[in-house]
Amino acid sequence: MDFNTHLATPATLSTVAADALLLVLVGDAAPAGLDKTLAALLGSAVADGDFAFKAGRTLYLHHAAGVKAGRVVFAAAADASPKAFHKAVSAGVALIKGGGTAHLAVARLGAADVAAAEAEALVAAVSGTVYLYRHTKPSAAADSKLSNVSLVVGKSAAAAAQHGLRAGQAIANGVTLAREWANRPGNHCTPTHLAKAARELGKEHGLKVQVLERKDVEKLGMGAFLAVAQGSAEPLKFIVMRYQGAAKGTAPIVLVGKGITFDTGGISLKPGAEMDEMKFDMGGAASVLGTLRAVAELKPSINLVGIIPACENMPAGNAVKPGDVVTSLSGQTIEILNTDAEGRLILCDALTYAERFKPAAVVDIATLTGACVVALGHHRSGLFSPDDALAAQLLAAGEAGLDPAWRMPLDEEYDEGLKSNFADMGNIAGRAGGAITAAMFLKRYTKAYPWAHLDIAGSAWNSGKAKGSTGRPVPLLTHFVLSRAG
Ligand code: BES
Ligand code: MN
Ligand code: ZN
Repeated sequence: MDFNTHLATPATLSTVAADALLLVLVGDAAPAGLDKTLAALLGSAVADGDFAFKAGRTLYLHHAAGVKAGRVVFAAAADASPKAFHKAVSAGVALIKGGGTAHLAVARLGAADVAAAEAEALVAAVSGTVYLYRHTKPSAAADSKLSNVSLVVGKSAAAAAQHGLRAGQAIANGVTLAREWANRPGNHCTPTHLAKAARELGKEHGLKVQVLERKDVEKLGMGAFLAVAQGSAEPLKFIVMRYQGAAKGTAPIVLVGKGITFDTGGISLKPGAEMDEMKFDMGGAASVLGTLRAVAELKPSINLVGIIPACENMPAGNAVKPGDVVTSLSGQTIEILNTDAEGRLILCDALTYAERFKPAAVVDIATLTGACVVALGHHRSGLFSPDDALAAQLLAAGEAGLDPAWRMPLDEEYDEGLKSNFADMGNIAGRAGGAITAAMFLKRYTKAYPWAHLDIAGSAWNSGKAKGSTGRPVPLLTHFVLSRAG
């Protein structure tokens, strides 16, 4: 998909050469200065009750007289925000994506000229709408014909729009990569597949990629990660990817992604209903791959490390049992009271491993708890950090990327339930505050650097009819990394 800018004014939109013209309308009346032909079409549509200046309303017109573009789509936006623009573009593109449109031109009217944020939102909306999963369903409807999208801008807005389109494309490529891997079922997305994907990404984008095998992980002493992996016939992989955009000695940002390629719960087996959705339990890992891809494309001057502990969580004769005690890489012992609380077990060893990079900050990303879905639903990711400055940066990055998070508490009081009579800690506390106690567990492994944790159990995928990965939080993470670059 090619995204570009097209110079035009609102008064000349009927002369724009494109297969379709999408007009996003802000405000509650036709904007002053709008092209006369289009203003007349809009006026009659409103008069006939076929269109209204109300968020969510759209209207499709075919071969409207006097308009060069063969299709015109009106889409009303709630307000002048990038978020409202994103929603209106998604609704508008949904009307033409299955048709013959190859070249789409998009203009926003009734607000100040678009800036970088709108350009980025345009790319996100279009690529998000046309993405189609086909890996194990090649018969799925042929890809959309849409191949070229122009953002209509005035002269003074063109440079900012170009900048936003470039960032948007890199982020969209990262989101698409994350969606694709998270959507693939457990038998098409094993730790071995993920390691191969990381290596290929490295080759294509000049990243250093290292994959540790079971024997390496044993030698290091990752007893918690090994305990989760031991009941699976699929070999574990511990993937380390490095992007170097700054001087060698510059402290890197480290991203750690939970890579459970399937979570049965282990001996603490999950109920059968919707267990298939646990193929998405490597969504954190997928977002690390996607963010590295976006960053490698944008080449900011920063050093970035991605770490992915990847394995399956299976019940088996040799699987870890409730009550088993293991020694983590940090030396702290853990009583595994529930084998379904496996994410924190693979993450704690990865978080300790991250110390060797002397990081400027570490962010882990994990589909960690059902409790986070209860707390925040599917809209905002849960953000946990003892570091106010880091938390503020991540929240701001989420707002900027239209990929929002919400900060949750980490008071010492929440640590109480993790105490164990048989080890330094248990891997679960009571039912109450489950997303927080999971974060408290991770916090015990992150004393060496500024740290934040994103629980994406609710935001990483959609259930129900629209079941599938969202590619989040690649936009948040990419904005964060860019904001930290020199
Ligand atoms: N991968 C799940 C978390 C999850 C559950 C994500 C539902 C999305 C939807 C995680 O490994 C898990 O099973 N967590 C347990 C923790 C509990 C045993 C303390 C949970 O949330 O039930
Ligand atoms: Mn689990
Ligand atoms: Zn899990």
